[in-house]
Amino acid sequence: MSSLPPTIATSSRRISLLEMFRAQRDPLRFLDSLKSSSADVVHLTFGRLSVALLKHPDLVQQMLVAENATTEKGRAFERALFFQFLGGGLLNSKGEEHRRQRRLVLPAFHRSRLAGYGNAMVEAADRVTAQWRDGEVRDLTADMFTLTLDVVGHTLFSADVKGTAQAITDAFNQLSIGVNRLSFPGAKWLLRSPLSFARKIRRGQATLDAIVYALIRERRSRLEDTGDLLSMLLLAEDAEHPGQHLSDEEVRDQVMTLFFAGHETTSNALTWTCWLLARHPAIEAALHAELAQVLGDRAPTFADVPNLVLTEQVIRESMRLYPPVWAMARRTLVELDFAGQKIPCPSLLVACPWITHRDARWFPDPDQFQPTRWTREFRTALPRFAYFPFGGGARSCIGENFAWMEFILIIARFAQQWRFGTTADSHLVKPQGRITLHPDRPVQLRLQRR
Ligand code: HEM
Repeated sequence: MSSLPPTIATSSRRISLLEMFRAQRDPLRFLDSLKSSSADVVHLTFGRLSVALLKHPDLVQQMLVAENATTEKGRAFERALFFQFLGGGLLNSKGEEHRRQRRLVLPAFHRSRLAGYGNAMVEAADRVTAQWRDGEVRDLTADMFTLTLDVVGHTLFSADVKGTAQAITDAFNQLSIGVNRLSFPGAKWLLRSPLSFARKIRRGQATLDAIVYALIRERRSRLEDTGDLLSMLLLAEDAEHPGQHLSDEEVRDQVMTLFFAGHETTSNALTWTCWLLARHPAIEAALHAELAQVLGDRAPTFADVPNLVLTEQVIRESMRLYPPVWAMARRTLVELDFAGQKIPCPSLLVACPWITHRDARWFPDPDQFQPTRWTREFRTALPRFAYFPFGGGARSCIGENFAWMEFILIIARFAQQWRFGTTADSHLVKPQGRITLHPDRPVQLRLQRR
């Protein structure tokens, strides 16, 4: 049933050069300035640029689900230089090609495969905490970045290639740091230049490609299922076209895509969750009680996930307030109508978890961290797209179940053994809207062994 009010407010206006500049420099502040408007469709124009911000859950659903065939992924998304390195993988492909790839990659994320990745996740958490010392202040942003890269490396390439997984993880890390610094229009031309940083990035990519291709060739020659994501990609057969598999180049592109899509989002979500726990000691104490009851002293496993109810609520609430993918964009292919407001073609449609997740119509006290709000009744009454950290429709996140399991196992493992404490600096942390929602400074937390 629709949760749209009978008359939905829309607004349409031109924005000034100054506003445009502000929106580019600090998109979250700009979005916050639009929050006060009661309009659910905010249509903004700047010269020939036309952008419609859709705030209401039913309009988000219309954009992500119903208009899938009349829209394609937004340009802002494509402009980010990083997407060039991913080649033609799932994130970048369109139309029929996207549907074919999705059919081939989906089995790698089937529930029956996920159980096998759980141990790798807990082991990776233990490798990080092995370096933590009681009472020390650590930059959790850096630790979570290393951790999620480690998880995706080991679940993609499994334990029998530990050395190689580490080499790939290191090469990807180098590449991603270099490329993140180049996220501005025109950067791709700089990358082709003989400048030393550009040469370094190109060398990083060549190293990464060489390792991944060698691994693909070696695995193809063995033809066995080693239980990891790479095996699934190599074995995948298109159900609609029997006998058709992914080529080496396509497997390489999916590997890069999963590496990219699977680690920065997750590392941000983990960092925000640890930060929120440090700031809410009563919630952290309740979490400790749940872990003592469900796990005692043993490490969590895949089978424990459904029983870690508060752990899940903590993470759900953390991603409500700090959604790693804070905006999703689609380019219109025809003129569209949203709640009576005509949106011309071409336009950019934007749905923002950052805005909708903090709307008091769906979330009372929207800026408060209240994990226990997520009762079964609350979830049932919530419009489907009031909460959408993983998107929705044909292009929803393929790694959603993987990510939930990773969060629950890792946060449970951390909180079993460690307590997070704030530092003077940690009170100053603010979110920043880059490709994902980053803290604006390193998140320094005090670690206390329990
Ligand atoms: C906190 C963790 C994560 C969040 C918040 C997240 C969020 C999202 C969102 C919102 C989209 C859709 C973007 C759009 O519609 O424009 C997406 C797509 C995608 N995600 Fe995730 N993701 C997460 C973790 C992961 C993981 C762990 C993987 C893989 C290991 C992954 C792989 C992908 C892929 C391949 C796509 C593209 C799907 C397609 O276009 O068919 N993500 N993700």
